[in-house]
Amino acid sequence: MIINHKKILGIAFLMMFTLLLGCSKNGSNPPPEPDTVLGTPFASNASNITNTSFNVNWVILPEAESYLIDVSTSNSFSTFVTGYNTLEKSGSTVEVTGLSPGLTYYYRVRAKKGAEISNNSNVITVTTTGVQAEDPTFLKVKANALENPFYVGVAVKSNQLTEGSSYDTVLKNEFSSITAEYEMKMNPISTGSGTYNWSAADKIVQYGNDNGINVHGHALVWHNAVPDWLSNFSGTDSEFALEVKKYITDVVTRYAGKIQSWDVVNEAVDDNGTMRNTIFLQKMGANYIKDCYQWARDAANAAGDTNLILFYNDYATSTNIPKQDKVFSIVDDLMTSNLIDGVGFQMHNTYLSPTKEQIETDINRAVVLGLKVHVSELDIQVNQNNDITHLTEERNLAQKDKYKEIVTIYNALPKANKYALTVWGFKDNESWIPFSTDLNHPGDDWPLLYNNKFEIKSAHTGFLEGLD
Ligand code: XIL
Repeated sequence: MIINHKKILGIAFLMMFTLLLGCSKNGSNPPPEPDTVLGTPFASNASNITNTSFNVNWVILPEAESYLIDVSTSNSFSTFVTGYNTLEKSGSTVEVTGLSPGLTYYYRVRAKKGAEISNNSNVITVTTTGVQAEDPTFLKVKANALENPFYVGVAVKSNQLTEGSSYDTVLKNEFSSITAEYEMKMNPISTGSGTYNWSAADKIVQYGNDNGINVHGHALVWHNAVPDWLSNFSGTDSEFALEVKKYITDVVTRYAGKIQSWDVVNEAVDDNGTMRNTIFLQKMGANYIKDCYQWARDAANAAGDTNLILFYNDYATSTNIPKQDKVFSIVDDLMTSNLIDGVGFQMHNTYLSPTKEQIETDINRAVVLGLKVHVSELDIQVNQNNDITHLTEERNLAQKDKYKEIVTIYNALPKANKYALTVWGFKDNESWIPFSTDLNHPGDDWPLLYNNKFEIKSAHTGFLEGLD
């Protein structure tokens, strides 16, 4: 019996040993960890939202050791909220603090295991409670606080209007009006007789409407934006006029109630002070300007917008007196028929010209007529003679003074004549001025309020000082 027991015990030991050997495969080495693939975490909605904080949340992954959290005010995560760039945390939530009230933030999460880092999660959008503080160093904030406020405008391109982009942020902070730099001209919109490409124009108008930003329409009729099909039009002159009428009617109708004003005719006067010899003058005769305004007015009224503000817009009228005279003879004529509400002064100026007096005299001609004044395309060149290779401090300050001067002139206008002061673009390097063949501009230039890095220039300070 005893021997038998010993035998059984021996066999059991042997079996256990074999089993153990089998488990460790080759005997001596411990088994390697099975390979787990680090998944992408799923960010869930924020919780505990207050005016200065919220909790970031995510769903935990069993294989993750920790998580990396990014919080940004832009959905492209081009910048980060201080302290929340790749912030490493375990668990499934983290509190984000020190935020501004009424601001929209974005967050995303990555999982981490050892040196391995997963892809970014989905992006969650969250807006803190409360109302955004009004920063008086923002142009529109200061302009809105004036006794007689006016719109501070900027020329835009539809591809800048992506939510969270740097343009979007600057635009919403600083500007209260937009003008399409080219996408609402005839050339991009009119693809043929009665056919249109509305995509870019719609996007611009929608953006303005969605964000409480005024939209100024620019421009229904301009000799430099005639589409090829119309330039090559082979019908009769009256058929040509009907095409122009149809275009004006369709565009004004589409945006009736959505935009507040239109430049109906742009740059109809030549630099020699006579009517510019455009295709419109050639085919429709001297009365074409009046016709265009009448068609715009009729279309707006028919669409139920009886307040559409109609502008005539032109350049260099402050320094070119024959041109100024001719512009105001057109304006007078339109006024007789009650077809015009305002004059747009483009103001593609330089740091030397026009003088304060020249600008005041020019603008005052619209004021005495009781018309609205739009400084419609402001930029101030500092290198019109190509004598500098970078923005020198001296030119920078001269430009600042010139910005201040025109804003001061504008701000002094009577309430009834104020409308908007629009700057022709955001960043210097994206301005139409440098190397412009239209302007015969020989070199680089820095005509706007923001530099290539989107930082404010002294020109911006000059603008603010003009509002004092
Ligand atoms: C310019 C734009 O800035 C350019 O991007 C475009 O290619 C041509 O037009 N007067 C006007 C504006 O009324 O529409 C012009 O804008 C500049 C001169």
